[in-house]
Amino acid sequence: MNRILAIETSCDDTSVAVVSGLGRVEACCSAHQDLAHAPFGGVVPEIASRNHTEAILPLVETALQKADRTWTEIEGVAVTNRPGLLGSLLVGVVTAKTLALTKSLPWIAVNHIEGHLLAPWLRDDDYAPPEGFAFPYLALAISGGHTHLFLVEELGRYRLLGKTVDDAAGEAFDKFAKMMGLGYPGGVHVDRQAKSGRVDRFQFPRSMLREAHLDFSFSGLKTAGQRALEGLSEEQLSEAIPDLCASFQEAIVDVLLAKLEKAGQQFGVKRVVLTGGVSANSRLRERAQSLANARGWQLAVPPLRYCTDNAAMIGYAGLLRLRRGEYSAQDLGPSPSSLPTDFL
Ligand code: KG4
Ligand code: ZN
Repeated sequence: MNRILAIETSCDDTSVAVVSGLGRVEACCSAHQDLAHAPFGGVVPEIASRNHTEAILPLVETALQKADRTWTEIEGVAVTNRPGLLGSLLVGVVTAKTLALTKSLPWIAVNHIEGHLLAPWLRDDDYAPPEGFAFPYLALAISGGHTHLFLVEELGRYRLLGKTVDDAAGEAFDKFAKMMGLGYPGGVHVDRQAKSGRVDRFQFPRSMLREAHLDFSFSGLKTAGQRALEGLSEEQLSEAIPDLCASFQEAIVDVLLAKLEKAGQQFGVKRVVLTGGVSANSRLRERAQSLANARGWQLAVPPLRYCTDNAAMIGYAGLLRLRRGEYSAQDLGPSPSSLPTDFL
């Protein structure tokens, strides 16, 4: 049975995992930086990479201990090398390469998005892929950094159907929350406030719904959010926050699900995955489940620990490469964007 140590540092979470066999997560240890970035209302790249540097080696030790493994039982080191914040990726890549070199192991570079797409296949004591889950499936990878809709045909064959042309869905949540003085990460606060709000009090745009393509745009929504807040006194704002959040959130959910539904019809696919931090959104989950019931889809939403950025998903993608003998060259480095060859 193959076993891999995996590292993820593409944004602001430092994560190290030990993954074996059929995606069995033996340990996944993460250090989150939400508190460090909260005063700025978003991720500050320099702070993120400095924190990765401090957290990474202790996390490697902790993950090995938690998995109860030694280096002699590890057959490769996988690491996210793209896309992401360059300084953050660099910390993970340099660490992975150095560990691989000193332990005489292969290193395997993994595209972060591929990790998200494969997250439903992970398993541990409390989670297993849904019964009957199989390829092909549609996957919405939605987070603070990306909004992608993929057709996952099989392992290694990912067809990008659509992506955001400007802001990511999570970024829209975060920026709107920041405008209202709610905390970071904003999506969590908007979700919470929206529970007691009305979805129809404020009219927010649903961009690109009439177009045939499957791309997304959220910058118009952000501007509309800003406009809705202008002219509100502090008192009016605090009264309106739940309704603002519910109306804003509904616009995002409408767009995400409309594109998903369109893709389902276009490609005749009946399995759907939500992944990435925004898939934690309670309204999105609820409405995606209703849509799945209405359309006869199988909906898979991996547990939050595998939806948000984590090294286990990178380990699984790396493990598949390791099995095929696909190792990375020593001179390969990090890159802020995906390679043209990563997706169809
Ligand atoms: O996957 P993730 O942890 O990191 C990135 O790769 O960005 O996603 C973080 C994003 C943030 O934008 C955050 O506001 C959003 O996920 N998020 C949510 C919720 N929980 C986290 N958005 C909407 N509703 C939520 N409950
Ligand atoms: Zn991500």
